[in-house]
Amino acid sequence: MERYTLPQFLELPREQQLPIIDDRAILYAQQFNRAQLDHYCKLADACRTIHKSDAGADLLASLLRRRTALNFFVQPSSRTFLSFSAAQSILGMRRMSLRDLNISSMSKGESLVDSIRTFMSYVDLIVMRHKDESAALAAFWISWNSDRRLMVGGEERILPIVSGGAGSKEHPTQALLDVYTLERSFEDQGGIEGKTIMMVGDLKRGRTVRSLAFLMRNYPGVRLIFAAPERYQMSEDVCEFLIQHKIPYSTVDSMDDGIETADAIYMTRIQDEWDELAGEGHVASPPGFRFELRHLDRMKRSACLLHPLPKRDEVDEAVDYAGDKRVVYWRQERNGMWMRVAIIATLFKVDSQILAHAFEHH
Ligand code: NCD
Repeated sequence: MERYTLPQFLELPREQQLPIIDDRAILYAQQFNRAQLDHYCKLADACRTIHKSDAGADLLASLLRRRTALNFFVQPSSRTFLSFSAAQSILGMRRMSLRDLNISSMSKGESLVDSIRTFMSYVDLIVMRHKDESAALAAFWISWNSDRRLMVGGEERILPIVSGGAGSKEHPTQALLDVYTLERSFEDQGGIEGKTIMMVGDLKRGRTVRSLAFLMRNYPGVRLIFAAPERYQMSEDVCEFLIQHKIPYSTVDSMDDGIETADAIYMTRIQDEWDELAGEGHVASPPGFRFELRHLDRMKRSACLLHPLPKRDEVDEAVDYAGDKRVVYWRQERNGMWMRVAIIATLFKVDSQILAHAFEHH
């Protein structure tokens, strides 16, 4: 395969990067096809089921017991960090973490490239979140071009890199857990295909909605509604992708316009950390993009309400305590851990053992 320098590789169009990345890293929502998505969902279900029995939990904990993971998260994170860590522990992995650049050698001026090289000497998996949208892609290039190889399922593999959030652009594992949550919510309604999904809030800088929109290419008949104030509307690159893949979408000026037609409503917070003059306190969600109790009455009976979390004023607190089964964001959060078990198990090719156990015992 042709070799590229790091700057050349970063500059390649996405369609040329994707076949190189293949199934060796998790970096972009665009890398997944339907068969893989179905596999992840099925595997996440299997992990969750077999973990309920001692034999199943023991099996899971034995699978990766000699592997070590590094969680390199140098941007704020609670859920993604903790759920990856929990997922690794379910699979018996040893775990290390680095969360603060000020206490790493990068504060002494070490480059990201050298730092990643260093990490690779000690671990078998790197999960990373970075404000630079190309950092995980760069880490992949470093892994690809280094001598370090792992034996995985009898085959030599490069050390896998998993993105836990890349700048304001991509959050592929969140999109996978969102798809898993949608599939579960629509279990009795034929799954995601043909559904209308309304995304609300800061769509421009929300990496979760961007990645989820990219994944929708795999589900025929899906329509998207983008409810956002002009300045936070979905970026052109995503809209172009949707046009290219014939995924219908519309934009509306208030979530009230889509509340009755949507099968899923996906709320997001204003991503004010990207504001240039980030002042004190947080930017309030504009009216028209806040989910209030009254909206539950207007939602379809079969619809569901998602949020990647953390949430702020865009969802009224009372919605949490309304006892409404359509509010699924806390289940979505829990699904994240199982999806991450599935992702790591697949990367290390222990997925068939999990499915075999689930098949034999359940
Ligand atoms: C999201 C993120 O970090 O992009 N959080 C998460 O991973 N669940 C969403 C957000 O921060 O708004």
